[in-house]
Amino acid sequence: MRTGRKESMNEVKQAGSALEPPYVVEVNDPAIEIKGLTMSYGDKVALKDISVSIPRDTVTAFIGPSGCGKSTLLRCLNRMNDLVDGVTLSGEIILEGTDIHSPELDVIELRRKVGMVFQSYTPFPKSIYENVIYGLRIAGVKSKARLDEAVEASLQGAALWNEVKDRLHESALGLSGGQMQRLCIARAIAVNPDVILMDEPCSALDPIATARIEELIDELKEKYTVVIVTHNMQQAARVSEYTAFLYMGELIEFNHTGNTFTQPERKQTQDYITGRFG
Ligand SMILES: Nc1ncnc2c1ncn2[C@@H]1O[C@H](COP(=O)(O)OP(=O)(O)OP(=O)(O)O)[C@@H](O)[C@H]1O
Ligand SMILES: [Mg+2]
Repeated sequence: MRTGRKESMNEVKQAGSALEPPYVVEVNDPAIEIKGLTMSYGDKVALKDISVSIPRDTVTAFIGPSGCGKSTLLRCLNRMNDLVDGVTLSGEIILEGTDIHSPELDVIELRRKVGMVFQSYTPFPKSIYENVIYGLRIAGVKSKARLDEAVEASLQGAALWNEVKDRLHESALGLSGGQMQRLCIARAIAVNPDVILMDEPCSALDPIATARIEELIDELKEKYTVVIVTHNMQQAARVSEYTAFLYMGELIEFNHTGNTFTQPERKQTQDYITGRFG
């Protein structure tokens, strides 16, 4: 909801001030709460004091100019940055009441709960079937009936089943780009995650394949919390309910997507969405 007139007046006074706080709408039922997150690669600070909650079973888009920290923030959510040397981090990321950095947390289990789909869709050079059940095999699932069931359910969930059901044991590398990306989504949902992170999932796809993935994202939010990084503002406007605008490692605005694109609360957001920079 748009803020009242009093607050708007305050904001007018603050406009242009470097100290202007981020505008962050409240979320009632967050899947993930990020509190005071600061992250550096060596001495380069990539994220500065970010506090925002990611709403459950909805689609949240991260937007902002190249290098602003979108992928970094996304990767923080399942500790993918742990794999990068020299990363330091402070603040908290709360998932189901637990800070994901707490010592008792099992990182493998975290990455099951918070799955990831990348820009460069990268099936393994294995069959379609084996690609889907990759995570289940790692988890030690052996029952053929259970695996068969997971393959069908996941491919159905990724809107790919009808196209591949007769060639499950053929190589995944024979699929089209759009099919490969849906296969990667099937692989992510096979392990029954709560959250699916997507980093520019459509940037290597043609408009038709992109439209299919966007439709799929719309279906996924029935069951999963989806966080998507996109450079494409029309895409963010089409697929997401909430949008986080980042600029130089800072969260500038987290708002209902409709408001972000029609009546943003911060001047930097306005400048970005109207193409004045980025
Ligand atoms: N592995 C790394 N080592 C050092 N610096 C990094 C690393 N990854 C990212 N950075 C730096 O952190 C900052 C944020 O990068 P990030 O990849 O998160 O940006 P982004 O918003 O996803 O950009 P793009 O839209 O180009 O993908 C950039 O300045 C980048 O150079
Ligand atoms: Mg990126």
